Amino acid sequence: MTDRNDATVQFMRASFDGFMAGRGTYNLSWLGHETIKYPTDLIMYQELICRRRPALIVETGSFKGGSALFLASVCDLIGVGEVISIDVRNDERRAVLPVHPRITFLAGSSTAPEMVQAVHDRAASLGPDAEVMVILDSDHRLLHVLAELEAYAGLVRPGGYLIVEDGHVNGRPNWPDYGPGPSEAIAFFLPRHPEFEVDPACERFMMTLNPGGYLRRRDDPA
Ligand SMILES: C[S@@+](CC[C@H](N)C(=O)[O-])C[C@H]1O[C@@H](n2cnc3c(N)ncnc32)[C@H](O)[C@@H]1O
Repeated sequence: MTDRNDATVQFMRASFDGFMAGRGTYNLSWLGHETIKYPTDLIMYQELICRRRPALIVETGSFKGGSALFLASVCDLIGVGEVISIDVRNDERRAVLPVHPRITFLAGSSTAPEMVQAVHDRAASLGPDAEVMVILDSDHRLLHVLAELEAYAGLVRPGGYLIVEDGHVNGRPNWPDYGPGPSEAIAFFLPRHPEFEVDPACERFMMTLNPGGYLRRRDDPA
């Protein structure tokens, strides 16, 4: 995690308090569809998509579809990529989800074996060298995030990104009594998967909901 100064930590606390109090401090709207993100993280996603040009972006946790629509909009601008966005509540929220030719919304748990298989099948259909970007933003509790990491990390090619959202909870610096969550899952995952490393450059805007969560798959040794 990039060193954060007091002002940044104060901002993260204040924005989180505002979010929890319903003041919408980071309830953004992208083309009219809500997403729960810092603007700085959306800009970082844009940078990564432009640099890596993934053929497929897998997002767990669609919520109202605003983040999937943002990702698809960037794909539109560069002319490549599709988005699969998964949520246990996608069927009941179908009426508010955006319709976009690059997005497929799937309903179900991100860790259900048939869901994992469907995503892997789609990735495989794009060819063995297809770049896949993975964004984990569903149930943030430790065991679920760990299960997602194990289910989807294998899709990411060398140089590609596996992003674990919301590592700011459990006292980093927010929601101190959340319990083990994304940051703890990453701490468990990384020693077992040395092919991944935290990319601090993705936190250079300092304000991120994903401290320590931008994981890059190392390049294969030459
Ligand atoms: C933080 S919200 C996602 C925010 C969204 N990515 C955005 O940026 O606007 C978390 C979502 O995860 C979903 N969710 C919870 N458990 C899940 C699971 N096991 N599988 C898939 N989605 C799940 C919830 O229904 C909720 O919509």
